[in-house]
Amino acid sequence: MTGRHGGNPWALLETDLSDPSEILDFSADLNPLGPPPGMESSFKEAWGRIRWYPEPTYREFRESVAKAEGVDPSCILPGNGTADLIHLISRWKARGRVAVMVPTFTEYERAAQADQSEIFALHLKEELDFFPDGLGREIGSLGAVQLLFLCNPNNPTGRLWPMKRLRELVEDCQRLETVVVVDEAYMEFVEDRLRYSAVPWVKRFQNLIVLRSMTKIFAVPGIRIGYAVACEETAIALRQIQPPWPMNALAASLGERLIGESGFLERSRREIAKFRQQLRADLQGLPGTAPVPSEANFILCRLADPTVTAQGLAQGLARRGILIRVCDDFTGLEPGRFIRIAVRRPEENQRLLQSLRKILPHAG
Ligand SMILES: Cc1ncc(COP(=O)(O)O)c(C=O)c1O
Repeated sequence: MTGRHGGNPWALLETDLSDPSEILDFSADLNPLGPPPGMESSFKEAWGRIRWYPEPTYREFRESVAKAEGVDPSCILPGNGTADLIHLISRWKARGRVAVMVPTFTEYERAAQADQSEIFALHLKEELDFFPDGLGREIGSLGAVQLLFLCNPNNPTGRLWPMKRLRELVEDCQRLETVVVVDEAYMEFVEDRLRYSAVPWVKRFQNLIVLRSMTKIFAVPGIRIGYAVACEETAIALRQIQPPWPMNALAASLGERLIGESGFLERSRREIAKFRQQLRADLQGLPGTAPVPSEANFILCRLADPTVTAQGLAQGLARRGILIRVCDDFTGLEPGRFIRIAVRRPEENQRLLQSLRKILPHAG
């Protein structure tokens, strides 16, 4: 079995190519500052909870998250990461018609396929650098669509939705009785995130579900903490088809603590914005890579030199202990031509750039 997303250093270890501590993973889009300090002691404090099943309503987790999000606790639905919630929502509308803004996170299409739904891809345009303005106007012409998945900021493009357009789309979908799922897994990396998050709209729109992940910004992908924000009616409907204990007790306890880490979040946003600016400028200066503008903690790059393929470049980097995300499996991106690079710390980004200079023709 191979991994289908980034963040799979295990694959590299299987080939004996690297000392694990030497692997630099640019394929998973995690906070390069690592988890907030003090996580280990929080783990120890939470340890006692493993003797019991998690409290079935996750009251404390939902209350802490609801406070931070400015909504009622009845609007919060915990999940084993947002990936779990994507599959739950898809199952809720199984054998339906599902629209997806592409290129985007591949799990929406995978979930819809698994649930035997018909998928409609709405394509972001490369000539507009994948900027989503105007996109989705065709939603009304598709006929009845039960679900629309979009990602803001979008993975793998890093682009943010203009809020006016997103709001119009949610309104159109309300009339069409289409549920809009806005996946904000990377919203905490956006400098002006309060202006861009759709969470406050949940009070007004019954057809809106916003997904939030703690994985990326707190760099804890191994723990699996995510939640949906939706109107109470939708949260109840989803809870009814969710298996019991969707989040383990340690994850719930750590999530309660992490949501209050406002100082860490501020610092992360500030620092990563600086790292991203520098990395993007450096990539722009490399012959052969054309980076797309990004508001997130990753950068999509087109490989302009036809003699270099994404897979070939990734293999060359892997031999140097560096992982990047080959984007061949993203619907709407030309296979072989795109890679996604996570923004890491400046010294790590420099190591990537040095390797790219060695591997890319005419870049040395
Ligand atoms: C857009 C997007 N949504 C959701 C996920 C899944 O995140 P989680 O770890 O919360 O399941 C990912 C992970 O790569 C992602 O890129």
